[in-house]
Amino acid sequence: MGFILVTGMAGFIGSHLAEFLVHSGHHVRGVDAFTDTYAPRQKRENVAGLSRRPEVELHTADLARDDLDGLLDGVDAVVHLAGEPGVPASWGTSFTTYVERNIVATQRLLEAATAADVRRLVYASSSSVYGPEDRPLVETAVPRPLSPYGASKLAGEMLVGAYAQERGLSTVALRYFSVYGPRQRPDMAAHRFIAALLDRRPIPVFGDGRQARDFTYVEDVVAATAAALTAPVPSGTVLNVARGEPVEVRELIDILADELGVEPSVERHPHRVGDTPRTDGCADAARELLRWEPRTDLRSGLRRQIEWHLRPRLTAVPAPAGPALAVPAEEIAVGAAVDVPVGAGLGGPGPGHELP
Ligand SMILES: NC(=O)c1ccc[n+]([C@@H]2O[C@H](COP(=O)([O-])OP(=O)(O)OC[C@H]3O[C@@H](n4cnc5c(N)ncnc54)[C@H](O)[C@@H]3O)[C@@H](O)[C@H]2O)c1
Repeated sequence: MGFILVTGMAGFIGSHLAEFLVHSGHHVRGVDAFTDTYAPRQKRENVAGLSRRPEVELHTADLARDDLDGLLDGVDAVVHLAGEPGVPASWGTSFTTYVERNIVATQRLLEAATAADVRRLVYASSSSVYGPEDRPLVETAVPRPLSPYGASKLAGEMLVGAYAQERGLSTVALRYFSVYGPRQRPDMAAHRFIAALLDRRPIPVFGDGRQARDFTYVEDVVAATAAALTAPVPSGTVLNVARGEPVEVRELIDILADELGVEPSVERHPHRVGDTPRTDGCADAARELLRWEPRTDLRSGLRRQIEWHLRPRLTAVPAPAGPALAVPAEEIAVGAAVDVPVGAGLGGPGPGHELP
């Protein structure tokens, strides 16, 4: 059996996906640059459990810069999750990081995957490729990203389409909508809200709090992603992965405060550029083509995320400083971590090794 390569495996979604794939009987090769977009220690904690699995390899490498020779050897299919996330940080000079990690890295991986003749490549795109729309967002809408981040994810999606069209690579792009759950990135809404509530700090909210997001639980996203690896769909297919039930930020705060038994206090800030008023994803196509159904209701999913925030910690990792919370079209963990040394670089030994 070949490997499934999961890029960005130490991240929020990547670590959940790798666990799911391993439990489903696959051999998984992960690659991650352990970027410092948020605490690399949290990323090491994310993959600490996987490190004990003989079916898992993890390589530390930067897809945008390192030699990818050997990374695709023995790989059957790829899920490309590695990237620079976050809407607010993508303005200004930091955009070069988005170009490198979301565009250059994707193009280099596509070359390597084409050369290795992999069976399927699944790309993690984003609801941030859409412009502001009052109606549920469908895949046929003309993309009009409101942020440099969204533009970089769309560029990646376009590259994936070009390799599907012209180079014979079998691809599926999935537009994820505001993923939440245990291990959520520390820049994301639910993470920051829970952290603030637990610390009895005011919750910074941008605008009037009526921005709505289609929060989608990480296990549901993982199920759609795994299904896309084998679904008999035309190459180049693009699908929304959304729950289809947008919830306003102020409602999200109320649910979290209720679950935690804390009276929330909110600190108002002006609207932020690039913060779309509403995401409401129509996932009918994914339902049909992937035979997939989002199963987790918001309250149950948030409860599981809260449990993760309350997990026993060996080493406290401070919450990120910086500007008050925006609620980007997607979403952050006050991490805690055991320092786990991470495996070898490319060219390391095969399955059964790595992630000591
Ligand atoms: N979380 C969401 O709500 C959401 C929504 C839409 C799309 N997405 C997309 O899904 C993917 C995963 O998101 P996430 O929330 O798990 O983010 P994450 O930051 O937790 O994970 C991304 C991982 O990629 C790694 N990485 C970044 N650049 C790399 C490079 N050049 N080479 C190798 N590794 C690199 C990082 O170290 C990180 O561990 C991203 O591409 C993101 O754009 C996420």
